[in-house]
Amino acid sequence: MIIADEVMPGMRGSQLLEIVHKSSPDIIKVMLTGQAGLDAVAYAINNAGLVKYFTKPWESKDLQLTIQSLLEKGRLARKNEKLTQELQENYKKLEQTYNELSLAYKQLKETQDQLIQAEKLSLVGQLSTGIAHEVKNQLNMLGFAELIQEEYPDDKRLQKYAGYILKSGKNIYNLVDEMRRFAKKEQRQYKMETASVTEVLNKLLSFIRFDKLLSSRKIITNFENHPFVCLNEDKFGQVIINLIRNAAYATTEDAGEIKIGVSTNGNQALIEVQDNGCGIPEEHLDQIWTPFFTTKGEEGTGLGLDICKRIIEEHNGSISCASQVNVGTTFTIALPIKYVMPAA
Ligand SMILES: Nc1ncnc2c1ncn2[C@@H]1O[C@H](COP(=O)(O)OP(=O)(O)OP(=O)(O)O)[C@@H](O)[C@H]1O
Ligand SMILES: [Mg+2]
Repeated sequence: MIIADEVMPGMRGSQLLEIVHKSSPDIIKVMLTGQAGLDAVAYAINNAGLVKYFTKPWESKDLQLTIQSLLEKGRLARKNEKLTQELQENYKKLEQTYNELSLAYKQLKETQDQLIQAEKLSLVGQLSTGIAHEVKNQLNMLGFAELIQEEYPDDKRLQKYAGYILKSGKNIYNLVDEMRRFAKKEQRQYKMETASVTEVLNKLLSFIRFDKLLSSRKIITNFENHPFVCLNEDKFGQVIINLIRNAAYATTEDAGEIKIGVSTNGNQALIEVQDNGCGIPEEHLDQIWTPFFTTKGEEGTGLGLDICKRIIEEHNGSISCASQVNVGTTFTIALPIKYVMPAA
């Protein structure tokens, strides 16, 4: 606290208080002045944070009480400020703890999700081992198709249909095996051969005529050229069938159109499967590739696209999706070209 007389030798009290106020605004300032000094008081109130003044002559008791009460007030103010500061620091610490906690919670949740995923996968592994066993038993009936082929070597129609049945049986074996491989996260090396993409697709499309879901959709091919790529026909076929099945599911029987396109871009062969179906909402576009993501409830396992992606990556290629709700969806596969058949 500083108590200054207004009239002093060398400097006026109001000036002194102004200087002190600039460097130490917290110091309590009191002025003593004669009746004529009220202008100086007004000046000090406006410029020097003056809190109290006494006109001469003052009662020393008065002065004493005022000093005491002002000092007490200042002490309380400082204490208040300290408390506020502590409160702010505590609040900051609390905020930090909260942030750390939410981060920990997020990590926990991720770990938990991974655990659930791993558990599901191991369950799929166990299930598919069982399924493989049962399916194999049931598929023994396919021996009849072989018998038919042997007994009617000259009947072209029977030969063809028996061939389809056997091929279908082989596909079922492969699919179950694929599931088990997927669940065990195994990488299997299968045979890759250089093949014409359009030829493989044509073969596949003649085969899916027998698939009820697919045969009810209009399938249009648009082959711009005939690239040859390194592929495993069964695996590649599995990818295309998965994509066409998804497309068929997304479209209606009367208006559904599925376009299969082949073109090239630099040294890449592009295979497109395009539909005019319900489309995929933007917030799902990242999720569709994750195992078990499905919007089909009981009807879907949500493994289709995960398997597609894995197979295409094993072919050194990539697969992407573009979609617009209520307009349609296009899946594009890019595979490295071996060579392109020159136009006939
Ligand atoms: N052509 C498409 N049009 C609209 N949505 C699609 C299309 N293809 C995939 N989806 C969406 O992506 C999800 C995941 O597809 P995915 O093939 O992985 O699994 P699924 O078809 O649900 O089940 P399944 O394992 O039997 O294939 C689908 O449930 C669907 O919501
Ligand atoms: Mg699917």
